[in-house]
Amino acid sequence: MTDKGYYIGIDLGTSSVKLMLVGSEGSIVRTVSREYPLIFPNPGWSEQFPDDWWNAVRDGLKELTDGLEPDQIKGIGCGGQMHGLVILDEDDCVIRPAILWNDGRTYKEVEYLNEVIGKQKLSEYTANIAFAGFTAPKLLWVRNNEPENFLRIRKVMLPKDYINYKLTGVHCCDYSDASGMLLLNVKNKCWSSEMLRICGLDESVMPHLYESFEPVGKVMPDIAAELNLSPRTLVVAGAGDNAAAAVGTGVVGNGGCNISIGTSGTVFISSSEFGVDPNNALHSFAHADGGYHLMGCMLSAASCNKWLCETILGTADYASEQKGITDGCLGRNRVYFLPYLMGERSPINDTDARGVFAGMTMDSSRQDLVQSVLEGVAFAIRDSVEVAKSLGIKIEKSRICGGGARSRLWRKIMANVLNIPLEIPKTEEGPGYGGAMLAMVGCGRFGSVAEAADALTKVSGTVEPDPEIAARYEKKYMVFKQIYPAMKKLFSEMKEA
Ligand code: XUL
Repeated sequence: MTDKGYYIGIDLGTSSVKLMLVGSEGSIVRTVSREYPLIFPNPGWSEQFPDDWWNAVRDGLKELTDGLEPDQIKGIGCGGQMHGLVILDEDDCVIRPAILWNDGRTYKEVEYLNEVIGKQKLSEYTANIAFAGFTAPKLLWVRNNEPENFLRIRKVMLPKDYINYKLTGVHCCDYSDASGMLLLNVKNKCWSSEMLRICGLDESVMPHLYESFEPVGKVMPDIAAELNLSPRTLVVAGAGDNAAAAVGTGVVGNGGCNISIGTSGTVFISSSEFGVDPNNALHSFAHADGGYHLMGCMLSAASCNKWLCETILGTADYASEQKGITDGCLGRNRVYFLPYLMGERSPINDTDARGVFAGMTMDSSRQDLVQSVLEGVAFAIRDSVEVAKSLGIKIEKSRICGGGARSRLWRKIMANVLNIPLEIPKTEEGPGYGGAMLAMVGCGRFGSVAEAADALTKVSGTVEPDPEIAARYEKKYMVFKQIYPAMKKLFSEMKEA
């Protein structure tokens, strides 16, 4: 252990929180995680209790800091699941369970925003259009469906901001996470007065905005005493989990790409300049390094594999399910899978879309289905990469992180479907490590996020595509991309039936 102090990174995810103790030279000293329930009150709805997050963080922090002197812990930075609506009343009590990023209930509000207010205006105000998971449509949903709750709102925040508030007592948000609310003028980094008016909100309910690496406060004395932290421990604003993951994998500055295969699947393209996809299929958000990024987000990535293995096949042994899938099988599977188990965001923006297995015959095996799920996710990631390419963005390689990227097979499928080399960062726990790096910058350990990334992020290996496998996948992708358009009309009929 070192005398120069430690930094804590928190990855507030959808199924669990992962906490990481990082030494000042960047080594991961200890990691701890705690799970919490995810509630689906209706098909396509997705909620969590903010106090489940806080209790998990509190409990995890006690274990993480055990045996350390409180003053050794210099700073804390959190990367959190984005877009979730957390609303507090005048006593700072949570009004209702948080409505999460993968919740599809707001389709009417999305239609109102995109069609009545209009995509052009939304894009002018915020650089983005409405998607069901974004925060503004959720506020409209609460106003339309729970008016008594809407009237009680005194503070609006995002999941990780609730943790920062509980630690410091400060109502804060950073630009990267705020970008996903559809309430931020992303280009000018301020709340959009037009969007606040559309949602019927006064700016006083919005948190104060910071850069991700800026300190927002110190841990409150009573919380510090309980969690073995110091009242001098600084808390930085932190970031949305994808921006934090990009920092953690070293994707900062201009032109880098990070692919994350977590519960969601994302393609994150960093840029020092502000830019908008003219069709708004990719999100235009601020980055945690002070710059910007474009991002495509699919709602169910590693969660599709989890669903197939655990819910359908009744096993948590993912590795055994993938064991028989050799190189010779890649690009030769006749079964296809559309991974839209929670509807889909990028690039199709369709809450009615659903999961589909297609192309099965009497000899299709359990292994074919497992393989098709891994491939379906890779094809859907490629859909977002194709949008980026159509904007003239060259993606010649990418880093890859997230739970799904631990599978050697899945990484290989991904590299061949995208036909680019994929670099594996030494620290695959992107958001937590990125959170700790932001804390280091906030505490002055590094002068900038770019400097921290330069010093701390390393690549442990590269997965190169194989020309033969990539050529087979090219043909398969041409088939895959026709399945959704063929099904689209049916999905809305299925919803009505
Ligand atoms: C990004 C998104 C997801 C969540 C997952 O727009 O919705 O990646 O942040 O935690």
